[in-house]
Amino acid sequence: MARAANTPIRRRVTLFAAALAIASVSGCTAAATSSPAASSHDLTVYHWWTAGGERQAMTKMEEDFETAYPSVLIHDNPAAGGGGITLETVVQGKLAAGVPPDTFQSHAGGELRTYVDGGYLDSVDDIWTAHDLDQKYPPVLGRMVTFNGQKMAIPVSIHRANWLFYNVPIFTRLGLTAPTTVDEMIADAKVLQAAGIAPIGLGTRDKWTALDLFDVVLLSVAGSDGYEQFYTGLLDPATNPNIKLAFQKFAELIPYVYPDHGSATWSDMPAQLTSGRVGMMVLGDFAAPLLTSLGGVEGRDWEAVGFPQKPSQVFLMVIDAFTRPKGVQHPDATTDWLNNLVSPKTQADFTLLKGSIAPNQDVPVSTYSMSIQARASTAFKTLPVVPSSIHGALAPLDFLGEWQDVLTVFLYSPDVSRALSQAALLMKSYDVAGNSAWYWAK
Ligand code: GAL
Repeated sequence: MARAANTPIRRRVTLFAAALAIASVSGCTAAATSSPAASSHDLTVYHWWTAGGERQAMTKMEEDFETAYPSVLIHDNPAAGGGGITLETVVQGKLAAGVPPDTFQSHAGGELRTYVDGGYLDSVDDIWTAHDLDQKYPPVLGRMVTFNGQKMAIPVSIHRANWLFYNVPIFTRLGLTAPTTVDEMIADAKVLQAAGIAPIGLGTRDKWTALDLFDVVLLSVAGSDGYEQFYTGLLDPATNPNIKLAFQKFAELIPYVYPDHGSATWSDMPAQLTSGRVGMMVLGDFAAPLLTSLGGVEGRDWEAVGFPQKPSQVFLMVIDAFTRPKGVQHPDATTDWLNNLVSPKTQADFTLLKGSIAPNQDVPVSTYSMSIQARASTAFKTLPVVPSSIHGALAPLDFLGEWQDVLTVFLYSPDVSRALSQAALLMKSYDVAGNSAWYWAK
């Protein structure tokens, strides 16, 4: 199917489906059809990849699919909002209204579990087995999508969430080195601030980025074991000294955070970094393609280091996956889509543009032109791998919603005792320990 013929149809249907989703989440009863043009060869895809880098990667994935399955017409439904902050609401509304998309994006782990527990998904065991993914994918990926003994989503991409990016010319000019600890980050921040540069880039309009910053602090004081235990409800924030220390350290960072963080999103920060308005930022490697598209050359203009490096290095993992909802209109097209996600060509094309690494081990590391991707690939194989809380992989999704609020408020009003008692209350009211038992059962 020619792209030129596809594009206008796709755009028209996208608007229709967006209106339908809004009607659904606002409580109206929606009709069960997704489009007047719907046929067995249609495929409605819901995702949140709209920012620079993400959008190009998704478009490439769709093009690869169209080449492999020319009779299927994709209806592309993006919901802007990094990390799926808006898509979750849209999809939950559609699922509850009985008008599921043919497939939608989810993070593997805790977020996926929400849809599984709601009874909204069919298993993808047939696809998993047909492609021998127990052999092709690293075992941790299988564990993160297995619920009640069944595989419930197909991963397409792995991100590392804990990178510290910095502006190379500024660091060189000021004689700074990339920090390996939070204390070193604070020392660098003081020098940057004295030079009139906002030291730590952060955009908290979507809130989850506040977690990204807090989580590297937590890793630095509690290590990977403490991190895992905290987000699975095994540590009491009211009494655990590491959680208190993490908040105290987090408070120390606040004077150095980008002052307008509340009105910016994660995808605003790469431009701030390349232009030299901020000196460093903590983000996942999905920021790398955006830095590149802004003209920033890796190594010359920006660089990234895994962070923190002490007490030990960790790969904070984010897995992007797609699902097979129950009762979809175009089940064959859903299966085609999921089959194509596994293809080494699609994963290579997609991850190259996305800044991530491919789950399918048939994709060679030489695919990647950016050093950050080659280093992520090595880190994934050699470091302890811990699911990132930030993107709904570890802690329960409803807990995370409120936890993000606690951390965002803390940035404006850093009261450690209040934050600790709020954390303890959230842990109990969302039964984080009980709702995380799936993780330790694997
Ligand atoms: C993450 C997702 C990434 C990237 C990022 C920003 O949650 O796993 O693929 O899209 O959000 O939107």
